[in-house]
Amino acid sequence: MPNEAQLMTAAIAAMGHAYAPYSKFPVGAAILDEAGTIHAGANVENAAYPVGNCAEASAIAAMVMAGGRRIAMVAVAGGDGDLLCTPCGACRQRIREFGDAATPVLVGGPDGFQRRFTLGELLPESFGPENLAD
Ligand code: THU
Repeated sequence: MPNEAQLMTAAIAAMGHAYAPYSKFPVGAAILDEAGTIHAGANVENAAYPVGNCAEASAIAAMVMAGGRRIAMVAVAGGDGDLLCTPCGACRQRIREFGDAATPVLVGGPDGFQRRFTLGELLPESFGPENLAD
């Protein structure tokens, strides 16, 4: 089972695959799924700016396509190490779909791990799939 350091390493490696010609702000994300598999993604921007995808969305798509259905842990790497590159609001909700309040969210930059959160800290009192369960 990959550990936190390995997940952060995968996020930093994914950062290297970002397509971010407009913001010049590469971001990488790595998800550990319920089977212990890592799925990575990077931000993919577009000339029509709002059409761009965040790294977390790319990693979630990769996980779902590979059959993963639960996020056990997620690592995000971005920025230059000055400010934390925490997931944007929409991505917090995207992570919530496959995780829960206890899901660890590791944040780092190109030089490695910076800070650890839980999804519940980043998105308190969230709305999720349970709200729509029968
Ligand atoms: N970005 C991500 O990919 N994930 C985040 O958590 C924060 C922001 C991307 C979106 C855009 O391509 C660039 O970073 C600048 O906002």
